[in-house]
Amino acid sequence: MVISNGATCVITLLSYVLADDGDVFLISSPFYTVLDHDVNVLTKNSLVRCPLLGQEKGEFSLHVDSYKHGYEKAQLDGLRVRGIIIVNPGNPVGDIYDERTLMPILEFAAEKQLHVIVDEIYALSTFTTLHEPFQSILSYKHLPDPKRTHFVWAFSKDFSMSGVRVGVLYSSIEVCMIASKVNFSFLPSGAVQGLMMSLLSDKEWTNRYVRTNKERLTEKFYSVKKQLELMSDGRIKVYEAQAGLFIWADFGLYLNEKSFDEELKLFNMIFDAGLYITCGKILGCNEPGWFRLIFSVKDSWIEEGLIRLKTALNKYEFNT
Ligand SMILES: Cc1ncc(COP(=O)(O)O)c(C=O)c1O
Repeated sequence: MVISNGATCVITLLSYVLADDGDVFLISSPFYTVLDHDVNVLTKNSLVRCPLLGQEKGEFSLHVDSYKHGYEKAQLDGLRVRGIIIVNPGNPVGDIYDERTLMPILEFAAEKQLHVIVDEIYALSTFTTLHEPFQSILSYKHLPDPKRTHFVWAFSKDFSMSGVRVGVLYSSIEVCMIASKVNFSFLPSGAVQGLMMSLLSDKEWTNRYVRTNKERLTEKFYSVKKQLELMSDGRIKVYEAQAGLFIWADFGLYLNEKSFDEELKLFNMIFDAGLYITCGKILGCNEPGWFRLIFSVKDSWIEEGLIRLKTALNKYEFNT
């Protein structure tokens, strides 16, 4: 195991250790596009986007075919694919992928001798409405290629400690040994590591915290979803997430025309009204009109944010 400066540094390390300069990793899109930077910061590596399926129908399904297509396309472009990055639960969509969904992807990776980086930074931020509990890759009884499967987690999301900068890599001894050498420059201080250790040692507190956090996230997600739907007379369509800190919503019915130019115009008006929400284009969404809103903030901020959003939507409708 390696402890580093947040999940950001763990992914930066993995990109450096697992691949050669110029190699690529496949990733489903839309996605947390800071990963474009993370895989590239110490190397010339990059990501190839493999779109989630059914986006034109408002669906975002993860399927091995999308990776197979991305793999072939990368090869045709003369790029060497070194791995796949899976974020589970996903950001921005908030879906959870079970073993049945992930196994064909893990098997495809094993067949092509690709590394698989599994980022589970939202693993404990799942909603209480789930029919089946989230299953971490660490609990799978069988992995097609365990030596090439690398697990990433951090305190940033599940413990609301982004600023504390502690991330975890769990991988083979060989990878951890090489990563540790580079990680010398990214180590969180001993004091911070000690603090995290004492926090996790209190199992009773940790379990209670995780349970309460899940209850509050679930309640807040459904409350903000309802407020957005009411405010827009159902024109904002909120995706039914299962985890995470985000509302992923389709504002397409507001757009004068379904284009990324119009999406950007709306984004700018919302920004000018004093609210920052991320537009789908920035996150690599294929369909214009989608936005990601963070809902895990104080009630008073949500209230003010919705007022600003309404102002911006009215302005967009009447001024464009
Ligand atoms: C999927 C994913 N991975 C990694 C990170 C970065 O985490 P950290 O703050 O621990 O570097 C984020 C942050 O938003 C994220 O959403």
